[in-house]
Amino acid sequence: MTTAPQGHVTWQSPSNIAIVKYWGKKAQQIPMNPSLSMTLSRSVTHTSVTYRPKQAGETLYSFSFHQKAKESFSPKLESFFGHVLDKYPQLGHYHFEVQSSNSFPHSAGIASSASAMSALALCIEEIALALAGTRSTFSPIGASELSRLGSGSAVRSLHPQWAVWGKTDALPGSDDHFASPLVKVDNVFTDFCDTILIVDSSQKDVSSTAGHRLMDNHPYKEGRLQQAHRHIRLAIDAIGTGNLPLFIEVCEEEALSLHALMMSSHPGYLLMKPATLQIMDKVRRFRDRTGIAVAFTLDAGPNVHLLYPRAQRHDVLEWIHAELLPLCENNRWIDDHMGHGPTKTR
Ligand code: PMV
Repeated sequence: MTTAPQGHVTWQSPSNIAIVKYWGKKAQQIPMNPSLSMTLSRSVTHTSVTYRPKQAGETLYSFSFHQKAKESFSPKLESFFGHVLDKYPQLGHYHFEVQSSNSFPHSAGIASSASAMSALALCIEEIALALAGTRSTFSPIGASELSRLGSGSAVRSLHPQWAVWGKTDALPGSDDHFASPLVKVDNVFTDFCDTILIVDSSQKDVSSTAGHRLMDNHPYKEGRLQQAHRHIRLAIDAIGTGNLPLFIEVCEEEALSLHALMMSSHPGYLLMKPATLQIMDKVRRFRDRTGIAVAFTLDAGPNVHLLYPRAQRHDVLEWIHAELLPLCENNRWIDDHMGHGPTKTR
């Protein structure tokens, strides 16, 4: 007698913070421009998937987030499982019970879809291989396609340290379909901190999905594409040669450009809050005053990420506590740093 295949897998996958931003896409989550990010360590999604043969009339999947149903995730999940069936039609005979939790607030300017979709893609990819009975060893990079289709930026979270996603002449082998690790990394960029200042943790008004769409007919689209290609070249060069001033310049220009693109979309919208601007202004003043290399960046939200080498942590944290935390929501911040990529937790 054969027993029906069933089982349970769990993965933990990190968020990432983009230095050069992915903003705008083509069909099948192909990015309009190449992007570069740093993989985080503590801002993670933990996902477990239990699978078993589907009963008659049963749905393909059920989903809970921190043990509760989450209606707002439905469109992304529907689309994700649609892609799963395109790639692995045989999985249509199974039911997947997905349980997920984050170590950080979702939809608050921390790329929650990157960690969530990469963690889920890792689980499903591993299950698909197990059910197919292949003997090939599963590696996180194998989950690239499903991660990307789930949420573009998720594909970068599969790599440790620095990852580039999207074709650029500045990195041989780079591709629109998967991310590649940066191998030439100067010592100064091998241990970077990301202090995330929570200005406002409420759910943002305009999703990234809607924001990407507004790039299709954006009046500054061509200029943005040129800028992103120039910035990725400069960022790769800065990280490879240890050029902190160049890194800071590109990092901050990208943050400002991303939000300028949002403001100049049709319709235009604003995700920054007054405290976001105050913090960015204070970062520049602090750098001018002390010469300490700390850069700000923003994701699609009001919270500010401060990026700096660990060697400067003591001085930076002292200043953050004195000047920046009073501008945060309930003095909230997340102490994160460069990470090693996803881990299988069971
Ligand atoms: O992966 P998405 O569709 O959630 O888009 C992410 C876009 C940004 O976070 C704003 C930038 C980026 O490259 O991560």
